Amino acid sequence: MINEKIENAINEQINAEFWSAYLYLSMSVYCSHEGLSGAANWFDIQFKEEQDHARKFIRYILSRGGKVTLLPIEKVETEWKSLLDAFKDTLKHERVVTQKINDIYTLAIKENDYATQSFLNWYIDEQIEEEETAQNMIDALKMIGDGYGLYQFDKELATRTYTPLAEE
Ligand code: FEO
Repeated sequence: MINEKIENAINEQINAEFWSAYLYLSMSVYCSHEGLSGAANWFDIQFKEEQDHARKFIRYILSRGGKVTLLPIEKVETEWKSLLDAFKDTLKHERVVTQKINDIYTLAIKENDYATQSFLNWYIDEQIEEEETAQNMIDALKMIGDGYGLYQFDKELATRTYTPLAEE
């Protein structure tokens, strides 16, 4: 049985993951409006992956006999100055998510919840990748600027494919 403090923290994290999904869907729509169909594809996959992150937390609470509470999703930004600006926001947002995961881990240590510590390792590794990817996008976009470089970069982002997270 999961303890109530951990259950509440994970329920909040489920909400944060869905909020992330909503933010990336908003970025995907923004990119579509800007004619950046490759970037729209990239953020749409990000949208799907965030839903997978939320589902993984949901399955975990259920597997430990806890109660899942789906909280309201706050509104998200809908406009960015550029694709670079959107990726800067992505990095900022992922750093916040990393901190939230770390906070739950700290709580799990305090509460002697070893199962949750073990479960969270997947998210800790995932966050390293999330931050690194966003940073790489920022670095690339700063290098290429607008125009033909951006056109080529957008084509590259169009090649990203979605792989659903395996259910354990
Ligand atoms: Fe669910 Fe982008 O971290």
